[in-house]
Amino acid sequence: MKIESLKIKNVGGISSLTLDKFHPNLNIICGENGIGKTNILDSIASLFSFFDSDYVNVKSGFNNGYLECKIDGCIKQRHINKKYINLIDKQCVNIGDFNLLYLKVNRVFDYNKEGSIHSDPTFSDRANRNAEGLDNSDIKQWFVSRYLHSAQINNLTETQQKNIALAKKCFSFLDSRFNFSRTNTLNEIIVETPTGEIYFELLSSGFKSILFILLGVIKEIEYRFQEHHVQASEFDGIILIDEIELHLHPEWQGKVCSVLTKTFPKAQFIISTHSPHVIQTAEANEVIALSGENGHLEKRTLDIAPNGFKGWTIEEILMDVMAMKDTRTELYREIKEKFDDALDNNDIEAATEAYQELDKLLHPTYPLRALFKMQLDKLKG
Ligand SMILES: Nc1ncnc2c1ncn2[C@@H]1O[C@H](COP(=O)(O)OP(=O)(O)OP(=O)(O)O)[C@@H](O)[C@H]1O
Ligand SMILES: [Mg+2]
Repeated sequence: MKIESLKIKNVGGISSLTLDKFHPNLNIICGENGIGKTNILDSIASLFSFFDSDYVNVKSGFNNGYLECKIDGCIKQRHINKKYINLIDKQCVNIGDFNLLYLKVNRVFDYNKEGSIHSDPTFSDRANRNAEGLDNSDIKQWFVSRYLHSAQINNLTETQQKNIALAKKCFSFLDSRFNFSRTNTLNEIIVETPTGEIYFELLSSGFKSILFILLGVIKEIEYRFQEHHVQASEFDGIILIDEIELHLHPEWQGKVCSVLTKTFPKAQFIISTHSPHVIQTAEANEVIALSGENGHLEKRTLDIAPNGFKGWTIEEILMDVMAMKDTRTELYREIKEKFDDALDNNDIEAATEAYQELDKLLHPTYPLRALFKMQLDKLKG
């Protein structure tokens, strides 16, 4: 299942937006704070949800809003009224959709004692609450249960065996020094790390954020498709992730998309980010850079190299894709302006003072240092 296009009118902070041609595998949405990235993901999720469709609301000052999505040639649409939400699906089923998973910004694991291993939950309601986002509270339960059962021949189906095998490998995807080790008699998940064996919950926030996504998606696919036995690596639905870079160091920000697309190669990811490192790994048609005013949004046309952003610097991405006006601080700009004014006015004293300030601010190997020094020396004669 793939989303092909999306239309939003007067929903949340968005007055109008049309996005055509979603990429079949990876879509990276970027844009300034408050432009509407989360509104977009909430809108998509709510189109695939049933009980919690009120996650989206009509734009303030309007009485009606409208959402429309084209999925595999089929239109799913929803009229939103201030008082009620009316779901009208043409051709598509009007219940929650099993094929959409939404990971919102809360990706923290608190310690959770698993006193006992329960039977699997019923799956019927899970897809009706897509807009609420995935629940992480049952990841540990799922993992421990599957790991214990995997020791017995025939306790797990072939799909479940493959899913737990994939889940175990996930611990090493971002850093090969980390490995799943075992569970213990307290039903704790033990991870082998460079600093020794530790409980799963003691992993760093960045690590847990990635595991939340990977294990959360595998667990959810297995629970949702209990009858149809969909293997997680074969899942061909939609995965929405808000702020993919949460808790990640730039190095991991640069790896996370390829880890996701390799782990779930048939899924369509629609993610939002503020990270130039995430964008740097993208292909040309995978980035949706939003711009607009008063909620009238559009996808900016970018002048992109044929092979995407892999050869761009972080600074080039910040300026040209993320529309950052200046990557220097205001303090730098002020002092540089003083230096330039002093040069124009032949004011040696002010130029020397500004140069000394710049000298303390600039990166030790900044290439224009030599030019500034030459300019000052020339002024001094
Ligand atoms: N019903 C509404 N009417 C008008 N404006 C709204 C409504 N609901 C939300 N907004 C505004 O819509 C904007 C978009 O919010 P959204 O959370 O989607 O931004 P974002 O791009 O995800 O930002 P961030 O990067 O900070 O997470 C917000 O500034 C919010 O104030
Ligand atoms: Mg947001």
